[in-house]
Amino acid sequence: MKILVTGAAGFIGSNFVYLMLEQHPDYEIVGLDLLTYAGNLETLEEAMKNPKFKFTKGDIADRDYIFNLFKEEKFDIVVNFAAESHVDRSIEDPGIFLRTNILGTQVLMDACREYGIKRYHQVSTDEVYGDLPLDRPDLFFTEETPIHTSSPYSASKAAADLLVLAYHRTFGLPVSITRCSNNYGPYHFPEKLIPLIISRALADESLPVYGTGENVRDWLYVKDHCIAIDKVIHDGKVGEVYNVGGHNERTNLEVVKTILHELGKPESLITYVGDRKGHDMRYAIDPTKISNELGWLPTVKFDDGIKMTIKWYLDNQDWWKNIISGDYKNYYEKMYSNR
Ligand code: NAD
Ligand code: DAU
Repeated sequence: MKILVTGAAGFIGSNFVYLMLEQHPDYEIVGLDLLTYAGNLETLEEAMKNPKFKFTKGDIADRDYIFNLFKEEKFDIVVNFAAESHVDRSIEDPGIFLRTNILGTQVLMDACREYGIKRYHQVSTDEVYGDLPLDRPDLFFTEETPIHTSSPYSASKAAADLLVLAYHRTFGLPVSITRCSNNYGPYHFPEKLIPLIISRALADESLPVYGTGENVRDWLYVKDHCIAIDKVIHDGKVGEVYNVGGHNERTNLEVVKTILHELGKPESLITYVGDRKGHDMRYAIDPTKISNELGWLPTVKFDDGIKMTIKWYLDNQDWWKNIISGDYKNYYEKMYSNR
């Protein structure tokens, strides 16, 4: 079996590469990544030592490059993680989100049609469902919840999902989609809430909390997301959407305070800043379908996962300090100086 993993040098893609090498040592894995600001080849250093893994740098929206790669490699399965993934960046500059997330998905599926494939899997997000009100804790996103997006990021992911389902219905492409809640764990880029708070708290810097900090996210340890995708690409039904989440809802303020408590840092570091435009209030996944059909259940509780994640950031300071000392420093100044 030969698998193409796009976005392999990013947060979830790299964790998926390591899971596949561990779970399927006989598979050949090709990791593809454009190495944008979010892609980091250092993350794949260990994988590179495995003869079953190879890396290729390229753009999923570059038709000639992608078609040549598919012609040469003859993949059995494609798992598409490659994306622009940060909501705040999509509010500043939506264009690149449409190109990568929608057109890139189209190019990959066109190559699948041309060269044949057993499965095309699209890694999507719970953000395509929009948000839920804080005063209705009984409501959850199911696969039947209507698409109702808030940000250019989520709109681009929803457009890609619709295109994937259209390629299945129109061309019979064997597709599947997972829509997962917020991930956390090793190799998470420090522009996202949890690694941003850990790295800034360790440096005794102010911790920006948007609005009142009451927004709720449903956190899932990244390895559990990767296990779910592994199950879906092997046993999930073609043409189906599977929601992935573990009922680990926390307000942003709860998350920030938990991290401060674990690190022994004072809550006085918390700084309330201007809210995100169009900020979604609450995400909450109903994972009944994937649990009933494929026997997937989360294995890591948030209280354990957050400790494991903090330990990883303490043990791997070079990884994130290299990122923070480079271009990302300018990004932080630009995004937070007038908030
Ligand atoms: P990430 O930003 O860490 O990684 C994305 C990777 O894609 C980067 O390595 C980047 O270099 C690469 N990339 C960007 N444009 C590319 C292009 N044109 N061609 C090839 N590679 C390109 O993101 P992530 O958090 O790992 O998310 C991966 C996928 O999972 C995304 O599709 C995202 O929408 C989805 N998702 C993320 C979460 C989450 O909580 N992080 C939850 C649900 C779904
Ligand atoms: O739900 C899945 C989605 O989760 C993925 O599709 C996205 O790719 C991923 O980035 C993530 O989106 P969020 O917008 O939920 O994640 P982020 O880490 O950017 O923010 C989490 C919450 O924390 C959100 O309510 C905004 C808030 N926040 C974020 C940052 C960066 C702050 O309060 N302060 C901050 O500095």
